[in-house]
Amino acid sequence: MEIKSIGIVGAGAMGAGIAQVFLVSGYEVLLLDQNESALTNAQESIRSGLNKLAEKGKMSAQETEAAFGKLYLISKTANFENCDLIIEAIVEDLGVKKALFKDLEGIVSDECILASNTSSLPITSIAAALQKPERMIGIHFFNPAFLMSLVEVIPALQTREGLGDEIADFLRKCDKFPVVVKDTPGFIVNRIARPFYGEAVRIYEEGIADPATIDWAMTTLGGFKMGPFALMDFIGHDVNFAVSNSVFKAFFYDARYKPSLTQQRMVEAGYLGKKSGKGFYDYSPDAVKPAPFEDANLGKLVVERIVIMLINEAADAMYLRIASRDDIDTAMTKGVNYPKGLLQWADEIGIDTCVRKLDQLYNVYHEERYRCSILLRMMAAKQQAFY
Ligand code: NAI
Repeated sequence: MEIKSIGIVGAGAMGAGIAQVFLVSGYEVLLLDQNESALTNAQESIRSGLNKLAEKGKMSAQETEAAFGKLYLISKTANFENCDLIIEAIVEDLGVKKALFKDLEGIVSDECILASNTSSLPITSIAAALQKPERMIGIHFFNPAFLMSLVEVIPALQTREGLGDEIADFLRKCDKFPVVVKDTPGFIVNRIARPFYGEAVRIYEEGIADPATIDWAMTTLGGFKMGPFALMDFIGHDVNFAVSNSVFKAFFYDARYKPSLTQQRMVEAGYLGKKSGKGFYDYSPDAVKPAPFEDANLGKLVVERIVIMLINEAADAMYLRIASRDDIDTAMTKGVNYPKGLLQWADEIGIDTCVRKLDQLYNVYHEERYRCSILLRMMAAKQQAFY
């Protein structure tokens, strides 16, 4: 696999960020968007991103000029003819993505690798639209792509043997931290992170603690960079609820991934978070930030419950061979800045304690969402640890 020229379709937040990654690594990048203003905005954001690297002394002025000189804004897919790799970052719509890849396949060489940056669509399903589905792969960057080092690499069922590892090697050379993941809903990060939001909302719905208190507990006691409510407001409830919904549906409505009514109502009301001026918090200029109830016992209970649910998800992902132990732990620390790997955290808490706490929740609620991962149960019985 030799990559010299990279095509990117979609010049939105992700396409522009991904383009910058490859330009900095010395590749030629052809960027396409159906919307001309998206292209010029992307060009500006890449220019300013490269300038910042120069200001910080990470690249010389000549290097940034050379990198910027390798960016080509294009208007037709026909221009991708000589690309070795094309990454799609367009609208999250299976039909539109399939149509794009069919079109691309008629233009590029047989060796050209076709990749999707989708967050929630099955790569296998996109690959099914291709004549040569063995060349299709998921390359899932995190936002902003030039800052976040994690990249999930997702071979489809049809992807040729070895392509996942080749793409991972290539991404390592571009200073990224790739993890190879099975093509399952939410891949690693969006799957394992569900309880960070879902369990936090549940605790709030039950009146155990309010958003400000839960956020205080998770940041001050739990060590997370942002609390779940501040983070949901930041991501946008429309986006976050859509991911929750798609993961829930994709798991054939497994109750463990059930989205919350609270969040649905917020979306219906247009309380989308920071971008709409109101979410769980008020973002109007004269808003007073609500004070958390800083009770150490309550805070500990909140952190323990959310972290235990995250650990349960991480253990299940390892049990179902979605990814390896090390990849699961580094994905969460590098992809979403968790204070430590969840499986390492499980060891620190003690596997038997994790099982006991999950069983306590299950016994109280009798709900499937609290069912303990079989892996944790087996490990507790054998007194094993992840590390
Ligand atoms: P965006 O809305 O910022 O950008 C999408 C761009 O694609 C727009 O400029 C649009 O004009 C263009 N576009 C749409 N259909 C097109 C077509 N058929 N041909 C050419 N251009 C087309 O979206 P964003 O956030 O950059 O997301 C893009 C993809 O990346 C989606 O699949 C999304 O799931 C995925 N993703 C998004 C992340 C995020 O945090 N925003 C994170 C990781 C993946």
